Amino acid sequence: MTAEAHQTGDGSEGTFGDELPNGTVLLRGQYTIERFLNSGGFGMTYLARDSLDRTVVIKECFPSSMCMRQNKTVRVRSRAHADEFEAIVRLFGQEARALAKLQHPHIVGVHQVFEDNHTAYMALDFVEGRDMLDVIEQEPYRLGPTEIKDILLKMLSAVAYIHDRGILHRDISPDNILLDDYNNPVLIDFGAAREEAIRVSRVLSAQHTVKDGYSPQEFYIHGSKQTLSADLYALAATFYHLISGNAPPVSQARLSAVAEDRPDPYQPLLGYNRDYDRFFLGAIDTCLEIFPKDRLQSAHAWLEEIDEARRRQAARAKAKEDRQMEDAILALVEETNKEVLDESDTRAPAPAAAPAEAEAKPPRPFPELRDNPTQILSHTAGDGTTGRNRSFFGRIFGVPFRRPRQEDKPQSDIVGKAGR
Ligand SMILES: Nc1ncnc2c1ncn2[C@@H]1O[C@H](COP(=O)(O)OP(=O)(O)OP(=O)(O)O)[C@@H](O)[C@H]1O
Ligand SMILES: [Mg+2]
Repeated sequence: MTAEAHQTGDGSEGTFGDELPNGTVLLRGQYTIERFLNSGGFGMTYLARDSLDRTVVIKECFPSSMCMRQNKTVRVRSRAHADEFEAIVRLFGQEARALAKLQHPHIVGVHQVFEDNHTAYMALDFVEGRDMLDVIEQEPYRLGPTEIKDILLKMLSAVAYIHDRGILHRDISPDNILLDDYNNPVLIDFGAAREEAIRVSRVLSAQHTVKDGYSPQEFYIHGSKQTLSADLYALAATFYHLISGNAPPVSQARLSAVAEDRPDPYQPLLGYNRDYDRFFLGAIDTCLEIFPKDRLQSAHAWLEEIDEARRRQAARAKAKEDRQMEDAILALVEETNKEVLDESDTRAPAPAAAPAEAEAKPPRPFPELRDNPTQILSHTAGDGTTGRNRSFFGRIFGVPFRRPRQEDKPQSDIVGKAGR
């Protein structure tokens, strides 16, 4: 990009030369550029007005290392790059069309995807507000724990939504989350097209798509496997920054430290701040683990971890499952005891108890079963059950059968009766 500094419409400094001048008309008059916002190496971002006089944001595919502007038209700097440029424009369009299908309150909406000036464009909803990095730097006291928790829940819902549709963001960071005046977050600037562009282009392959502090270590390794947990790492790093005031250490440096047997320079959040519960901070720490397998594996799992209502719901579901399992075990033990009784009755009939006593001591229940069903099972199996019964237990419960020792002698009446 040619780099003559000039003032953009809002008085901030931009660069002069390759960006479209204010007033430029796109798509036969449907959009008019109002001002240049930013150039990110792969594209240029503008504020524009559409034919209905609404403010929109326009992103232009403009990989500056291989192209330049001639009048309005985008041209490759060298003919040798013509094919690569076309492939990149195609990818930009594909990605934009995929994004246009997404409908989520916390993901920027795509109005239209079109071609003009020999490149591709997308028109996005304009989000009034500022990006999270600005907020951290310029208004450090704007967001308290309540707002931060709320923003994280909304971002997790957005990330779960894209992941459920097989899309990775790949560039989650504070500068790619916009906050409106009510602190509603909106995720922008999906990086998957850039990643693909780097893959297909030799010119761009030298270009980095990592963001120090936010990208997980696997992003520094060319061709490494991309997992959902990579987005979770970047989201956790973003919230680490929001909570602690600093981005986490560069993941590559963390990996080197661990590889060289030095301590991980990461300072966990857990125990750092009493304004958040341990589940909230612990989940961020877990998602910032160096190795993907040690992180939470999905946005849904993260939501479950931090959302108290969901946590209670999950605990209730687990308790129900455990109760069902206990009931099943009780039923099986009951059935097996019946068999044991029948067998021992036919083998060696026990001395007849007084009818009143027999009635007073029914063969069930095993009071200790709820505490330790496997113990009861081994007692039962060790005292007179047949091999068939033993393997039956092993098959159902995976309980290793242990030969009973003297001290294991059964205490309950029914087992005693069977064993005597
Ligand atoms: N939908 C939007 N509404 C309001 N402002 C936006 C919107 N999209 C982008 N911006 C502004 O433009 C800036 C740059 O946009 P964006 O993050 O999409 O691209 P980039 O990071 O400059 O480029 P690249 O796509 O090459 O990484 C943002 O930081 C934000 O200030
Ligand atoms: Mg960006």
